[in-house]
Amino acid sequence: MKILVTAGPTREAIDPVRYISNRSSGRMGYAVAAAALERGHDVVLISGPVAIPPPAGARLVSVVSAAEMQAALEARFGWCEALVMCAAVADWRPRRPRTLKIKKRGAPPVLHLVRTPDLLKRVSARKGERILVGFAAETGPGFLKEAVRKRRQKRCDLVVGNDVTAPGAGFEVETNRVAFIAADGVTRLPLMSKRDVGRRIVDWIEKRAAPR
Ligand code: PMT
Repeated sequence: MKILVTAGPTREAIDPVRYISNRSSGRMGYAVAAAALERGHDVVLISGPVAIPPPAGARLVSVVSAAEMQAALEARFGWCEALVMCAAVADWRPRRPRTLKIKKRGAPPVLHLVRTPDLLKRVSARKGERILVGFAAETGPGFLKEAVRKRRQKRCDLVVGNDVTAPGAGFEVETNRVAFIAADGVTRLPLMSKRDVGRRIVDWIEKRAAPR
């Protein structure tokens, strides 16, 4: 299958030397890409800035900002049969990034933020027969309820929910504890390596694609 995976954070410029971002290391998305390649799928990996090497065989598209990720995603969405949207896209960006470095003299600057577009929601409007897998990064109790809401709102076939405050789960670490939220219910998986979570996601996609 042709599988498009997004991974890593985006960076939203404040000025030429500073940005807003988040803690995504790219590990989870890269593990999904590696698991898909292992099974012989054709993989395009759209990645924000990370410090880990891409899996061998993935076609890497490097981006920095949410706007760049959106352009890369929209350009390749038509190609794919399945999308796994693991990237931690920044939800806000500075309204007007400065072209010159903000000087420290004077009062601290006030940042005016605006929402970035919801990339997944936008492409899901032209889902067609594609299999869409989103992630939900939540904190604390009630994370499943939010993940269920996101599945509906973003028209995903599967949402992989993770409580990013749980030990061994979420950002940066090599392991994750996730729940699969699909039309037929919720399946909680135990703590496992991100590569194994990636394999379970690829299993799910293959099974879903099988009867077609
Ligand atoms: O990279 P790691 O360090 O390994 O960490 C892994 C992870 C915690 C980043 C990963 O497991 C994860 O949860 N990824 C999703 C992060 C996220 O942005 O979640 P969200 O609940 O805010 O967004 C829900 C979905 O909408 C996600 O599929 C996201 O990619 C997408 N989204 C979000 C915002 C936005 N502006 N556009 C989007 O498409």
